[in-house]
Amino acid sequence: MKGSARFRIAAAAVLAVATVGAPAVAADFETDLARVTKALQENPSGVLTAARQACLNRRRFALQLYDQGQEARASRRLKTCFALLDIPETAPQAKVVAVKPEDLQAKAARELERALALEPDVANGLEIYRECAACHLPEAWGLHNGSVPQIAAQHRKVIIKQLADIRAGNRENWVMVPYSSAESIGGPQALADVAAYIESLEVSIDNAKGPGVDLELGGRLYADNCVRCHGATGEGDSERLIPRLQAQHYNYLVRQFEWIRDGKRRNADAEMATQIRDFGDRETHAVLDYVSRLTPPEALQAPPGWENPDFQR
Ligand code: HEC
Ligand code: HEC
Repeated sequence: MKGSARFRIAAAAVLAVATVGAPAVAADFETDLARVTKALQENPSGVLTAARQACLNRRRFALQLYDQGQEARASRRLKTCFALLDIPETAPQAKVVAVKPEDLQAKAARELERALALEPDVANGLEIYRECAACHLPEAWGLHNGSVPQIAAQHRKVIIKQLADIRAGNRENWVMVPYSSAESIGGPQALADVAAYIESLEVSIDNAKGPGVDLELGGRLYADNCVRCHGATGEGDSERLIPRLQAQHYNYLVRQFEWIRDGKRRNADAEMATQIRDFGDRETHAVLDYVSRLTPPEALQAPPGWENPDFQR
């Protein structure tokens, strides 16, 4: 009976391939069926006989529906076994679900909270950072064209917040996602560790500056709109998760500023977005040109020509 059921499924799956749109359902049904069958045979959660009997009946009925070509109904019927047999739902990547931004923000917030509570291991942070250095460079100074930001000496808490956001999908930074995922570097402890290492690095003040044509306006706009959060010299505020802006590459500043203004950085600061809502091109370029010339205190500045000794070249 088991053998003939398998065969029917295989034949139906072949048939389904000929029908546009059906293969996905067929593949899902096959996977679900395999999981239900396994759970019935092995009973890993120790569910009672009555539940298994009920599920056996549903499974038979689902197979009948499937043979009649009613794949969607068959799938729904089989799914009811999941609760009965205590089978965890299918992995999220297996199906396309509409994810709500609030859920992603909540996910990032949970990871941030957990990482902040951990004691960082800076030595392990260096080991993790070796992968990051491929793009951010061993000194973490990024690239002058602004495609990759300078992150050296950024506040540890800000780095963790941004990494949690990037991992959760709150920032359109798909290039970095595979390198910073929990699968590749580990959970909240990895965030705490790598952030502590990056914070310990010194800043290059040889960053890319703006064109320098509208600095007087830029300075005024900065004083009126930014100081209360980013500080008089762009030092940011670790406790409030406000980034250090000092010596950041101009093009990167412009891109992030516009993305925050236009809501593309989905977990950025709502108050900042409101504050800069009416900034046009001239204001944006003027204020960020000014910002690109702000520098950190000397103690945080790397000497000219410095190379990170943690990396062999
Ligand atoms: C494949 C290249 C690449 C790798 C590898 C990479 N990054 Fe990035 N990273 C980027 C790019 C590009 C951006 C800017 C994305 C944007 O414009 O929004 C970025 C942004 C960031 C930011 C946000 C900075 C800010 O000011 O908001 C942090 C923090 C960061 N990376 C840390 C890391 C860490 C830690 C690793 C290693 C675990 C890493 N990156 C690996 C390319 C990379
Ligand atoms: C109400 C507080 C607030 C004000 C006012 C504010 N910001 Fe921000 N800003 C923030 C916070 C918080 C973030 C980090 C957002 C996040 O978590 O993604 C940020 C992020 C940024 C970034 C991205 C930095 C990075 O490394 O990714 C830039 C650039 C920036 N702000 C520039 C400005 C400028 C210029 C002004 C004034 C015109 C300004 N901000 C006004 C709070 C503020």
